Amino acid sequence: MEISIGIIGLGSIAKAIISPLLERGEYQPQQVLGIVGRSSSIASALKDLPKDVKVLASEDSLSSEVWKAPLKILAVKPQQFDQIKESGSLFQSDHKFPKPLLISVLAGITLKSLKKSFPGHTCIRAVPNTPSLVGQGLTGLAWEDNITVDQKKVVKKIFEPISEIYELEEKKLDPFLALTSSGPAYIALVVEAMADGAVAAGLPRYLSNQLAHKTLSGTASLIREKSLHPAELKDMVASPGGTTISALRHLELAGFRSALIEAVFLAAQKSRQLAEETSS
Ligand SMILES: NC(=O)c1ccc[n+]([C@@H]2O[C@H](COP(=O)([O-])OP(=O)(O)OC[C@H]3O[C@@H](n4cnc5c(N)ncnc54)[C@H](OP(=O)(O)O)[C@@H]3O)[C@@H](O)[C@H]2O)c1
Repeated sequence: MEISIGIIGLGSIAKAIISPLLERGEYQPQQVLGIVGRSSSIASALKDLPKDVKVLASEDSLSSEVWKAPLKILAVKPQQFDQIKESGSLFQSDHKFPKPLLISVLAGITLKSLKKSFPGHTCIRAVPNTPSLVGQGLTGLAWEDNITVDQKKVVKKIFEPISEIYELEEKKLDPFLALTSSGPAYIALVVEAMADGAVAAGLPRYLSNQLAHKTLSGTASLIREKSLHPAELKDMVASPGGTTISALRHLELAGFRSALIEAVFLAAQKSRQLAEETSS
C-alpha cells in the first residue's frame, strides 16, 4: 500500500493528530510513515499506534520516502526546521497542480518561508493548541493562496477530530497563538496560584490542587452551557460586602487584569517578531 500521509516529527502533537484519524479509519496504518530524529525514539513514537504504522529515524536512508507522500505534516521543533528544509528541498514534485500538501504546525515559520523551502508543495500553517492532545483543542489555519477547495477539505478533516477549526488570515495567527496556544500556560499559573492561596489559608495541598482544578473546569462548563458573559458570572458570585468582592478588589489593585491583557499582547508581538526573523 502506498504512503498517503507522511509525518516529519512524529512527537506528541503529531501523535495526537494521527491517532484519531487511524481510529476513525480515515487512513490505514500501512498508509502512514512517521519520521523521528533518533532511532532511540522509534519505540516511544510507535507506542499506542497500530503496529503497521511505519516509523523511521531521520538518518535511515529510507526516511526520504516520506517526501513522496501526497500529504505531509511537519511537526518538528522550530529549531529543527533548518535540517528538515535541507532534506525537503531535495524533493521535487512531478505534480504541477494540485501540488502535494505540506501542513506545518511550527510556531513562527511563515507561509513565505514554507513556500520558499518547499516549492514543490502547497503549504498550510496550522496552529493547534495543547488541549488538542485530549481532543479539546482549537486550531487556526492559514492557507497558501492557490489552494483548492478540495485540498482545504482534506486539511480540515485532519484537525477536526482534535479541535475546533478557525480559518484566519496569516497575520491573525499571532494573536490567535498568543491567546489559545500560550493560554493554557496562563490558566495553569492561575490554577496553581489559587491552590497555593488555599494552602496558605490552611487546606491540605492535595485537596487544594484538586479543588482548584475542579473550580476551573466547573467554571468553564458554566460559562459555556449558560452562554454567560464572564462579567455576568463575576457579578453573580460577588455579593455586596462579601468575600469575593474583597478578593476582586485586591486583584484589581494588583493589576491582575492588566497583566493578562499585556501578557497576551506581548506573546502576539513575540510571535510576530519570531516570524519576521525566520522569513528574513
Ligand atoms: N505539543 C503541542 O501541544 C503543540 C501544539 C501546537 C504546536 N506544536 C508544535 O509542534 C511541533 C512539535 O511539538 P511536539 O510537542 O510534538 O514536540 P516533540 O514531541 O518533541 O516532537 C518533535 C518530533 O520531531 C522529531 N524530530 C527531531 N528531529 C527530526 C528530524 N531531523 N527529522 C524528523 N523528525 C525529527 C523528534 O524526534 P526525537 O525525539 O528523536 O528528536 C520528535 O519525534 C513544535 O514546533 C511545536 O511548536 C505543539
